[in-house]
Formats: sequence, structure tokens, C-alpha cells
Amino acid sequence: MKQGLDLAKRLSNARKIGVLTGAGISAESGVPTFRGSGNTTAVWKGMPFDRVSSAEMIREDLNAVWEWFDYRRGVLATCAPNPAHRILAEWESEFEDFMIVTQNVDGLHSRAGSKNVFEIHGNINRSRCVECEKRFLMEFDTVPHDPVACDDCGGDLRPDVVLFGEMLPIDLFSGASERASGCEIFFVIGTTSLVYPAASLAEIAKRGGAYVVEINLEPTPLTRSCGSSVLGKAGIILPEIDRLFRKEVLSQI
Ligand code: OAD
Repeated sequence: MKQGLDLAKRLSNARKIGVLTGAGISAESGVPTFRGSGNTTAVWKGMPFDRVSSAEMIREDLNAVWEWFDYRRGVLATCAPNPAHRILAEWESEFEDFMIVTQNVDGLHSRAGSKNVFEIHGNINRSRCVECEKRFLMEFDTVPHDPVACDDCGGDLRPDVVLFGEMLPIDLFSGASERASGCEIFFVIGTTSLVYPAASLAEIAKRGGAYVVEINLEPTPLTRSCGSSVLGKAGIILPEIDRLFRKEVLSQI
């Protein structure tokens, strides 16, 4: 990796790091991505994923939405964090300020040990009452979802994730944006950078003066404007950057 030494030097001098992750970081854990190369689940029972994952479908066919999400929860039950998740979890204690903003709903960053995670698209193992908004935690092994109805008001439950046609939780996103704008280095890992407003975080970080590093299998719309683009698998690239970073830190002692 030709940029490795430069990145290691930058990391060893930085205090504030931000990371935006997308489906690609979990690909090596066996979680299918939505788009791009690799193992994708773009269609579910003949429906494009952005239709079955839409606000409209909650109103039209909640059962179909649950079938799709229960299927994904079942897949996740067999998946574990990979080296990319683990390195990011370790980095949390290496820097004064370290945050992860993830578009993933799979909870793998937390399972790897990360604490400071903004799950801006929600979490697949939570459900929410469509009437009173009460939230419920589920376990991976409760597939299909459980409970099936709100124990307070009896309302229907839906996955507690952001669907197409819905707004992101405003407080969560503005908190993540504010932190992004103060970063010195901002990593964008395993995302097509097509879905907004998540994709705008790299622009916000860059405007705030951050050096933006993209790690992806292939170029994206962000590639031309970022400081460094590293093509390859996150689970291989991040451990390599980490190795060089630790060597650099030792050489400065
Ligand atoms: P996508 O599925 O759109 O893109 C996955 C990206 O990861 C692609 O750019 C791949 O090239 C890259 N990739 C795949 N394997 C990789 C690997 N091992 N290492 C590094 N990169 C890899 O996923 P997102 O950009 O996260 O939203 O999608 C954004 C949002 O679209 C999702 O959060 C979801 C979806 O609609 C909601 O559900 C609200």
C-alpha cells in the first residue's frame, strides 16, 4: 500500500479521528452489501431492497418488511466482527477523540467493542411501536422478531431502522456532523457514498479541514475529492495501516 507510511505518520500526529462506515466494512463478516461488487442482496422476493425497505411498505405490507428484516437478522446471527471492526474498536483508546458514524444496522461495531458509535440508520435488533414509539431490544436468536406487539399500547411494531423515505434522527445526525467538522482525519470505509445525508459527512469533515481517506474495493463519487483513496478490502487494509501506525508511534518514542 503506497500511502501506508504517509497515513501512519498522519495518524501518529492526530488527536481527532472520525470514521464513516457502510455495508462494505461488514462484507468480510459475511453480511451482504446493497450495491457495488461482492456479495449483494439487491432484490428480496422479487422486490428491490429500496422498495421493501421503504416507509411506504410499513403502511402497505408490514409483514413483508418484517420478513425481509427477520431474514437479515437470521443472516447476522451467523456473522461476527472482522479485523476491520476490531481495529477501529482498538483505535478508540488511541486517540483523544474518536468516533464512528455507521450506516450499518448490524451492530457489529458495538460487538467488536466500539463504544462511541453513531448508528444513524438505526439498529436491526431493535423494534419500535408505530403508535407510541416505545422501543424494544431483540436478540439475534429471536427470529422471527419478538415481541410482536407493543406491551404498552398493543400497537404494531416495526424495525427501528431508517427506511427509504424517512428522515434520519435529527439530533443524532447533527451530533455526528458537528464531530465530523472537528476531525483531523476522516475515514470513509466500505460505502458507495451515494446515500445522503450520510455521504455529506465526508464533505463536512473536509470543509472543517480534515484529511479524508477512503477505503473501498472500487472508486466512488467521493474518490476524486478525498486526500487518499486506498483500494482493497477493509479487513486487510486497516490491519496494515494499524501495523504501520504502531511502528511509527514506537519510532517517535
Ligand atoms: P452499499 O451496499 O451501497 O455499498 C457497499 C460498498 O462497500 C461498495 O462501494 C463496495 O465497493 C464496498 N465494499 C464491498 N466489500 C468491501 C470490503 N471488503 N472492503 C471495503 N469496501 C467494500 O452500502 P452503503 O454505502 O453502506 O440504508 O449503503 C448506504 C445505505 O444504502 C445503507 O445504509 C442502506 C442502503 O439503503 C438504509 O437501509 C437506510
